[in-house]
Amino acid sequence: MALHKGPEKHEERTMSVNPFFGEANPVGGMTEAPPTHRLPDAPLPPSTAYQLVHDELMLDGNSRLNLATFVTTWMEPQAGVLMGECRDKNMIDKDEYPRTAELERRCVAMLADLWNAPDPSAAVGCSTTGSSEACMLSGMALKRRWAKRNADRYPGARPNLVMGVNVQVCWEKFCNFWEVEARLVPMEGDRFHLDPQAAVELCDENTIGVVGILGSTFDGSYEPIADLCAALDALQERTGLDVPVHVDGASGGMVAPFLDEDLVWDFRLPRVASINTSGHKYGLVYPGVGWALWRDREALPEELVFRVNYLGGDMPTFALNFSRPGAQVVAQYYTFLRLGREGYRAVQQSTRDVATSLASRIEALDDFRLLTRGDQLPVFALTTADHVTAYDVFDVSRRLREGGWLVPAYTFPANREDLSVLRIVCRNGFSHDLADLFLDDLTRLLPELRRQPHPLTRDKGAATGFHH
Ligand SMILES: Cc1ncc(COP(=O)(O)O)c(C=O)c1O
Repeated sequence: MALHKGPEKHEERTMSVNPFFGEANPVGGMTEAPPTHRLPDAPLPPSTAYQLVHDELMLDGNSRLNLATFVTTWMEPQAGVLMGECRDKNMIDKDEYPRTAELERRCVAMLADLWNAPDPSAAVGCSTTGSSEACMLSGMALKRRWAKRNADRYPGARPNLVMGVNVQVCWEKFCNFWEVEARLVPMEGDRFHLDPQAAVELCDENTIGVVGILGSTFDGSYEPIADLCAALDALQERTGLDVPVHVDGASGGMVAPFLDEDLVWDFRLPRVASINTSGHKYGLVYPGVGWALWRDREALPEELVFRVNYLGGDMPTFALNFSRPGAQVVAQYYTFLRLGREGYRAVQQSTRDVATSLASRIEALDDFRLLTRGDQLPVFALTTADHVTAYDVFDVSRRLREGGWLVPAYTFPANREDLSVLRIVCRNGFSHDLADLFLDDLTRLLPELRRQPHPLTRDKGAATGFHH
């Protein structure tokens, strides 16, 4: 979460309370104005407190128009009701809430089957707050396995993790927090994600694993997981080095199984030790739920698993946090049950159709060049065409905000820092109709943008708010 500091001098103010809100003072006087950055001395009536908070939140963006986020912004009312019913259940209290624990177990079993674990009963997995925690846990398992294999050299030797420079920031966090060297394969020309051969060249006896992403946060493209595994197989034949692969399927883990059944990326590849996904992305659940699965017990060292008995029972757990809401896990089970394979296929196909159709129609405007087309993740990245000099992607991002659309613009990492792009994430709920409205707004902006003397957005970061 954001690391906050105390209030600035100018922030020390009180809130203004509309007399209409005041339930506290029956003669109609104003409730005493509460401070904003200090705990108020006295309670407020609930309706007044509600109205104050509600009014301030009106200034938040409209989540459905947020084309920056991968996270689910629409669920059915029934899911909302179930989540409300479970908001008081702590996921860790497995013995007190055995049915919630059972639903989590069923979700893990369903994912093991969906991701083709050779023996689903041998696969192990858990829910998490999201993919970031799932990636931390998976990285920890890789590191511990490497440390055990190298017990004679560790802690002297420094472990490393190989991945594309396009990895999501959670992998940089993992390397920082757990003191693992991040070995990053740069982008090259029109290759915007990991190259298997370049990844293999970075591996040595201290490589705890290679991360492959399905698909990339930067442009929605799938990394070539099967080719990566084949290249690592060849490395093992040549040198004896046996380097496991973790697949970061934060988004694609819930897209590829339904839309790209012929793509072999999961536990069908013996080298894939673990996979994560975000239940709250294309798993179609409100934030925060993620999943981490290991192919078998060998892939998840037993000593990382904790057994807690003081809440009753003796349930093995693997998590960074202790307490966590149970509602999202219940909502995940609801969605699995509700949609089934056919339902997920239909929903993801319709989202991909919106993405590919919108991408082609933006390309036809002639001002933009597509980097990806929304035909892998329903996500695409585009930049301005070579002949466009009056404006840049940051101007487009800033101007789209006027219509409420949040579309991030950002520069690519090494070796393509020269390339600035816009990224559009299509999600369930961003319908063909909304895509039409988006295209209308973009088209309407173009004549003005073309008349600019030069690109105008100075504060690039503030214009886009991109947090990959
Ligand atoms: C590839 C990838 N990995 C990990 C994450 C982090 O996921 P979460 O937001 O669920 O923690 C993201 C988020 O966008 C992602 O795209």
